[in-house]
Amino acid sequence: MSQETGIWLFGYGSLVWRPEFAHVERRPAHVDGWTRRFWQGSTDHRGVPDDPGRVVTLIAEPGARCHGVAYLVAPATAAEVFAGLDHRERGGYARVELQVHFPSSSARPDGATSAPARMYLATHDNPNYLGDAPLPAIAQQIARCRGPSGTNVEYLLRLADALRDLGAVDDHVFELERLVRAHASL
Ligand code: SIN
Repeated sequence: MSQETGIWLFGYGSLVWRPEFAHVERRPAHVDGWTRRFWQGSTDHRGVPDDPGRVVTLIAEPGARCHGVAYLVAPATAAEVFAGLDHRERGGYARVELQVHFPSSSARPDGATSAPARMYLATHDNPNYLGDAPLPAIAQQIARCRGPSGTNVEYLLRLADALRDLGAVDDHVFELERLVRAHASL
């Protein structure tokens, strides 16, 4: 990556299905050593302070792989885009740098199979972090919660659909989808 080309951003949650920022490329991508979990509380998007919803963060796990989407942000719009995303992700996410990998079906024209990228990560020390819980309890929380951006169910179901569109398998997300659909008769 060079500043002339732009800045890659890796999305693994709402940024997969609702980017809503200017970008010049969108490519399926993955990060290694990370697994997606509904362990972050949401008091500003999919819940409220008295009843936080659950949204995804990534947890370090040797050997794991998380599939998502890499977006290339042009240098001319980068300051505005990242200011907007810093605001959107302000509920506990910090911007970190890591290496993203492009599958062969998504290889770049220059042949690059990986690139440095930014990502928003909610670590265990942020005030909204909820951590692990039994999946049925997480599913019940998701089925119940809503916030200024909409229902927590919408967040989960749209993420699951977007992962299927990418051809990605995520047992944690798909099992929660199954439990929530059963719970809410969806
Ligand atoms: C992301 O999508 O990459 C960050 C978490 C979220 O906004 O859901």
